[in-house]
Amino acid sequence: MATEEVRVAVRDLTKKFGTQTVLSGVSLDVRAGETVVIMGGSGCGKTTLLRLMIGSHDATSGTISLLGQDISQLDGDGFDALKKQFGILFQSGALFQSMSIAENVALPLQEHTDLAPEVIEMIVKMKLELVGLRPHAHKLPSQISGGMMKRAGLARAMAMDPKILFYDEPSAGLDPVTSAEIDQLILELTKNFGVTSVVVTHEMDSAFTIADRMVMLDGGRVLKIGARDEFDRIRKLSASEANLLSEDEQIVYQFLRGAADGPITRRRSADDYREDLLGMDASGNPIEGAGSTHGRM
Ligand SMILES: Nc1ncnc2c1ncn2[C@@H]1O[C@H](COP(=O)(O)OP(=O)(O)OP(=O)(O)O)[C@@H](O)[C@H]1O
Ligand SMILES: [Mg+2]
Repeated sequence: MATEEVRVAVRDLTKKFGTQTVLSGVSLDVRAGETVVIMGGSGCGKTTLLRLMIGSHDATSGTISLLGQDISQLDGDGFDALKKQFGILFQSGALFQSMSIAENVALPLQEHTDLAPEVIEMIVKMKLELVGLRPHAHKLPSQISGGMMKRAGLARAMAMDPKILFYDEPSAGLDPVTSAEIDQLILELTKNFGVTSVVVTHEMDSAFTIADRMVMLDGGRVLKIGARDEFDRIRKLSASEANLLSEDEQIVYQFLRGAADGPITRRRSADDYREDLLGMDASGNPIEGAGSTHGRM
């Protein structure tokens, strides 16, 4: 169960890559024991937000605290110590191809602890059992399926008994059943080990299965943040009821329903057209290079 203790605190976070503002003024809290799902269209900044949270990008402005520590204030040793307390599951599973599944799971324990090899071996067996891969421990990543790779990645992310787990698209590229299995695994880890999870996904079924709370990003800002039930309520509205929602919530509605028509698509075509024709963005500001032969791709 979630408690009031905040494990991840993001405050007024902005991230620019060159002149492109990818995140602007993002604030959110993730409390102990809860699973927060971050959703949003492709390119809206989900992975960037996750990378900032785990310290692999620096913020342009704003702060991120993990387990009560502002990560920008930590030196190398301080961050290494903090890093031991969180696990990451990347999209690909990011396993080392030349190492067996067991060796992959053992790696963080060998790197970050002084445990004896027999103890590490035992922990690895336990983690692989947790994700149902113990019989496949000796195989190389190339010898297992995509779903098994995700589970192996999860076993490795769990190796150090992290307090927080970060996932980027855990069910991307998996068939619906395997994807549902990964969701169950995430739920079990949360329930049985009190892990706090931050999950980036645009798979709606998965999001509604695992989330306690949801965050919807759009164009680098938070459109809506709230309990799963609140998002579910919006999802289930009729089209005429949805017309009464705020502008932001209408975007949420279209996204949750995966509808072809709505503010997202209308905005996209209006933007493209205006940009192409006049070299202006939606607010009427000129766009460099747009409306000319060397406009954007
Ligand atoms: N290292 C980088 N350097 C420059 N631009 C970047 C970098 N990483 C991301 N971007 C830009 O930031 C924007 C958001 O990218 P991000 O990967 O966060 O999107 P996303 O929401 O995860 O999308 P998807 O659902 O497709 O994974 C994109 O326009 C992308 O080109
Ligand atoms: Mg991404």
